[in-house]
Amino acid sequence: MQSNPNIVVYFAHLAIEQSVINRRLRDVVCDLPNVDFRDLYERYPDFYIDTAAEQSALRRADLIVFQHPIYWYGAPAIFKHFQDTVLLRGFAYGPGGTALHGKDFLLVASTGAPVEEYGPDGVHRYAFEDLIRPIEQTARFCGMNFLAPLVLHGGHTLPADVIESHALEYRRRLEAYRPAGFR
Ligand SMILES: Cc1cc2nc3c(=O)[nH]c(=O)nc-3n(C[C@H](O)[C@H](O)[C@H](O)COP(=O)(O)O)c2cc1C
Repeated sequence: MQSNPNIVVYFAHLAIEQSVINRRLRDVVCDLPNVDFRDLYERYPDFYIDTAAEQSALRRADLIVFQHPIYWYGAPAIFKHFQDTVLLRGFAYGPGGTALHGKDFLLVASTGAPVEEYGPDGVHRYAFEDLIRPIEQTARFCGMNFLAPLVLHGGHTLPADVIESHALEYRRRLEAYRPAGFR
């Protein structure tokens, strides 16, 4: 029998004290026994990311989660820096770069705008799925399986019970997670 699957959650928020959604989402998953919760701005306030330590954390994981608010149609800046300094040739892609092959990847994101604003008639013009293609394609390029993202649209206009049930759904998804072929 296999032990619980390993999950690493990478988290970033620029002003956690002002966060409503991601703070609650963080709080409901960070204490799960098989979750390695890694707050990037807390660990690396100076942006000097420890590449070897993060590559080890990624190697250990069956499921890799990126959790963050959407800032300017993408992830907070430190996530881009994380990709540039950790997902290196020979590790994540290129010759011998198979460390992430077969792992699952889950994006957990929140937006300020309601979902109707993501489409041809909305202020953000494009479907949300199209705006996150760079994240999806990065995961796929590294050989990972891109799972259906868990997204909460609407930001601080949402009632507290909607945020709470979304948070519990996040926790349930991590608790229920099993890699393909896991018994
Ligand atoms: C720098 C910055 C950029 C943002 N860009 C977007 C955006 O492109 N689209 C959007 O819908 N919301 C945007 N927002 C709103 C945040 O996504 C929203 O406030 C956040 O998801 C709410 O989660 P929180 O309570 O954890 O902060 C932005 C907010 C900030 C501070």
